[in-house]
Amino acid sequence: MVDIYDPIAVIYKAVGDEKPFFDLVDEFYSGVENDLILRPLYPEDLTDAKQHLALFMIQRTGGRTTYSDERGHPRMRQRHMPFPIGMNERNAWIKNMTAALDKVPEMAPHKKDLTEFFETFATFLINKPH
Ligand code: HEM
Repeated sequence: MVDIYDPIAVIYKAVGDEKPFFDLVDEFYSGVENDLILRPLYPEDLTDAKQHLALFMIQRTGGRTTYSDERGHPRMRQRHMPFPIGMNERNAWIKNMTAALDKVPEMAPHKKDLTEFFETFATFLINKPH
């Protein structure tokens, strides 16, 4: 077996609790609510969007797998296809997530790894030229 070290997959255990993930997502969506680029892409009621992102992050960092149990395989590129994502949208998403990371103290030790993960992931989701 090839054992590849994935720094993201050990974060949940190090944080040790779900609350910081829900806090992170709450902070992120507070930013989205006031973001002129991102707000129009999201549904009016953000309750489900919050739940999806929190459960996805808990699963991706090594916590419970409720995200896939409820939503199936993540297929993130496919799930984002209905939303036009260019460099501006990508950068706005990262800006809001960086601000959210700064507001949740439990995430501070993982900021570098999470920022790298989010930046790479957000770039991968770009689906239009501008
Ligand atoms: C690049 C800029 C991005 C934009 C503009 C964007 C936008 C959106 C929108 C509009 C939704 C639908 C909200 C809903 O009703 O659930 C969504 C869902 C979601 N996004 Fe993003 N997103 C971006 C990047 C990311 C990144 C980097 C991640 C990874 C952490 C992510 C994870 C998710 C997840 C887990 C869902 C829920 C999917 C589902 O189960 O239906 N997104 N995104």
